[in-house]
Amino acid sequence: MKVYTFASLKGGTGKSSTTITAAECCAAAGKKVLVLDMDINNSCSFYFLQDSNESDRSNIAYALQSDNLSDFVIKTKNGNINIIPSSLRLVDLRAMSISILKRLMVTLNNRYDAVFIDTAPTYDNIVLNAINAADYVITPINYDQFNFNTSVFLGQKLRLETESFDKWFLFFNGYESRYDSNLESLQNQYQLLFSQHDILGKKLLPVRFPFTRNMRKFADTNELLCSKGQTEKLHNAVCDLCSLLLEEEIRPEKF
Ligand SMILES: Nc1ncnc2c1ncn2[C@@H]1O[C@H](COP(=O)(O)OP(=O)(O)O)[C@@H](O)[C@H]1O
Ligand SMILES: [Mg+2]
Repeated sequence: MKVYTFASLKGGTGKSSTTITAAECCAAAGKKVLVLDMDINNSCSFYFLQDSNESDRSNIAYALQSDNLSDFVIKTKNGNINIIPSSLRLVDLRAMSISILKRLMVTLNNRYDAVFIDTAPTYDNIVLNAINAADYVITPINYDQFNFNTSVFLGQKLRLETESFDKWFLFFNGYESRYDSNLESLQNQYQLLFSQHDILGKKLLPVRFPFTRNMRKFADTNELLCSKGQTEKLHNAVCDLCSLLLEEEIRPEKF
């Protein structure tokens, strides 16, 4: 069982979209997946659960205060995906100690191939729990200055305050091929800025999610991503990311 935490200090970079698409992709490839929604914004819980009442009793806030995560797992309509949903009660835990989740992970008894954790765009003790519990910390980045600044800052924090710096990687979300030929484009300039940075340059994964409205449609309308047709590029990119993360070929025809 490997644990993947999606984290970024900047909001709207694609943490939740990546958690959702990666979970569906791995599940379609036959992997058993658990999603932990640790962002009170609830994006993943909203996507995976029809009945929000289910999370009144089974949620990540109660789970973090328990001695067994398995008691708080909810099944989704995809038989390969379980979730522990988010809760507003997380705000009461923001001063909790930072290795609780890591210690609780063993209570899942290796029942999953992959655990994907979605987090809020901040650096509090809730996020630190998710970071400390992870085998890999993944930061989706967009092509702009604040993404660059916050990535440099997050790298410093991880290096100085956690043991997760070596497990931390970034990938670009929102790539548009039409800018490729224009060397002056912001996309090319930020690609260069990130890749030439002494630390961030070594952290960039060889995968880019394209900018496409299919991302939003996927989360909002349950539209499938297929290996052919309009959704091909996003489909391929999600498969590429999952294959890198799980260290094996993950390439279901659709999910
Ligand atoms: N590759 C993409 N192309 C187009 N829209 C995207 C892409 N990735 C994310 N979005 C949209 O951007 C918004 C923020 O994405 P989200 O995954 O919720 O970010 P975060 O969880 O980091 O705040 C959402 O409306 C989502 O649909
Ligand atoms: Mg989110």
